[in-house]
Amino acid sequence: MKVLGRRNSVVERVVMVEQILSEFLLKKEDLKEVMRRMQHEMDRGLRVETHDEASVKMLPTYVRSTPEGSEVGDFLALDLGGTNFRVMLVKVGEDEEGGWKVETKHQMYSIPEDAMTGTAEMLFDYIAECISDFLTKHNLKHKKLPLGFTFSFPVRHEDLDKGILLNWTKGFKASGAEGNNVVGLLRDAIKRRGDFEMDVVAMVNDTVATMISCYYEDRSCEVGMIVGTGCNACYMEEMRTVELVEGEEGRMCVNTEWGAFGANGELEEFRLEYDRVVDEMSINPGQQLYEKLISGKYMGELVRLVLLKLVNEELLFNGEASDLLKTRGSFETRFVSQVESGSLPSPPVGSDSGDRKQIYNILTTFGLLPSEMDCDIVRLTCESVSTRAAHMCGAGLAGVINLMKERRSQESLKITVGVDGSVYKLHPCFKDRFHKIVRELTPHCDITFIQSEEGSGRGAALISAVACKMAGCMLAE
Ligand code: GLC
Repeated sequence: MKVLGRRNSVVERVVMVEQILSEFLLKKEDLKEVMRRMQHEMDRGLRVETHDEASVKMLPTYVRSTPEGSEVGDFLALDLGGTNFRVMLVKVGEDEEGGWKVETKHQMYSIPEDAMTGTAEMLFDYIAECISDFLTKHNLKHKKLPLGFTFSFPVRHEDLDKGILLNWTKGFKASGAEGNNVVGLLRDAIKRRGDFEMDVVAMVNDTVATMISCYYEDRSCEVGMIVGTGCNACYMEEMRTVELVEGEEGRMCVNTEWGAFGANGELEEFRLEYDRVVDEMSINPGQQLYEKLISGKYMGELVRLVLLKLVNEELLFNGEASDLLKTRGSFETRFVSQVESGSLPSPPVGSDSGDRKQIYNILTTFGLLPSEMDCDIVRLTCESVSTRAAHMCGAGLAGVINLMKERRSQESLKITVGVDGSVYKLHPCFKDRFHKIVRELTPHCDITFIQSEEGSGRGAALISAVACKMAGCMLAE
């Protein structure tokens, strides 16, 4: 064990820890600057002449504002984009007021690592296998159901049911998918199996599915956002500014793919040494830099790197890390939530208040024997990383909302944002910090946040129901 020198007296130790963590603090001016740069890239993404260079791609989704009514009946919904793949049966009906009524049955399938990083054929064969299993279990094999596919990656759409995958994100890497029509890959895999038929009518991003699903509860919902494994947002944009699609009338939902923000150096002065390590060690270095500051796939790892820095500076755990703490990916994002949940409101370091038990327990599973002060420092580290994430993400959403207000030339904007994702839902303080900063950055806007339940599947099914109505498709009996 290393002997701590005099310079590490309690007060000095606190000062040094705070100094290291202060790098995560973003001033209001910094956030406004991030917001402005985000808006600038959004604008470039929408314009034909700058679209290719823009880091924020602003992808048209072909989900339009004009409601056409919807079919009622059974729909199958697929949800691919996180660590699990879900298949759902969604019954869309009409309630007494002519609104939607939705019931779902679903099943989760974990995606084996080799399907995520093998070939596209392997991945889509696995998906088809899961659908087949689900249909068998629910005795639906004989029906040709309309299918809505929530596919949570950047897709350049040509229509609601056609679009090519631009690039994988979030640890997916299956070869032979990028540059190809995703719906085509799915249809081919279903054909290869040959034991059931499907009518793929719509493919949507998870942000879009979330927005649609929340729209069903609140007609002012024109923004969808995810803060989970990844981080992204979509919103209803005026058709006249969506230059990539012809037509001037009405609005179309645009998938911003803001996770890629930063690829043109827009975040350089805000990225810290830990962010650079996370990026360099990732499957997609140089990409999704904004997402890597915020989302659940990276948050735990960022905390772990900061903890190691504090250990190296002999400010934590007597200057010694355990083997597990030295292992990449060992500090999962859910631990960040757990560490912060025992300490509301956060007590001063070293004080008697605050529940350290939870933190102590987590750290002992890492083979560490933390002192009370160690527990407090770990809590402060988690708070610093997750607060920066909430603020960075807030700057992005404020950018979207201010842009919408500007477009609509309104003195004030009343808007609802549908949100989903594990970080938003499960972290004990993320949402409050996030809501607060968004409101501070959006004067004259009245924002309601609603949390979507079952958003991904329900949204995909609802948009399929609308698409079916428009296409006049026949629903299976
Ligand atoms: C990643 C994907 C994006 C998705 C987000 C949330 O950023 O590129 O399409 O919406 O994760 O799942």
